[in-house]
Amino acid sequence: MAKLPILTYPHAVLAAKAQPVGEITPELSALITDMIQTMYESDGVGLAAPQVGHSIRLITIDETGPKERKSPMVVINPEFVECTGKKESEESCLSLPTFTCKVKRAENVTVKGRNEKGEDIEIKAEGLLAIILQHEMDHLEGKTLVDHASRLKRTMYETKIKKWKD
Ligand code: NI
Repeated sequence: MAKLPILTYPHAVLAAKAQPVGEITPELSALITDMIQTMYESDGVGLAAPQVGHSIRLITIDETGPKERKSPMVVINPEFVECTGKKESEESCLSLPTFTCKVKRAENVTVKGRNEKGEDIEIKAEGLLAIILQHEMDHLEGKTLVDHASRLKRTMYETKIKKWKD
């Protein structure tokens, strides 16, 4: 197991649409294990493969967080089956240090995909889990929180991160 480096905005991989995952190879299983560890050690509740440099449709989630680690979840090729209701959530992202943003989300989502064993799964989610699923699935479309922010907020963040690099 290894903690992987997390790519930060504006890395090109974060802006790319991720490719579907085919068969579950030993390499993919190793990546899944590493992603779960990386998510926990980075204090996250979710991680998408593009955030660790793999432009593939794979996400890991644990809504109980790094302290409890009670419900690690892996979804390969996740797809929305149904989204209902509306909810505004304040979110942050491991790829956007210090950035937070209010995002309009669906309140309830049903997502289908495959788990780490390649079995078909369907997840009916509400509350925090529904929000995390939508956030991580955004990453697979090449979308991050800055794409939900106002132009001004985005420009201010870009100015801030340029200063970090200097
Ligand atoms: Ni994120």
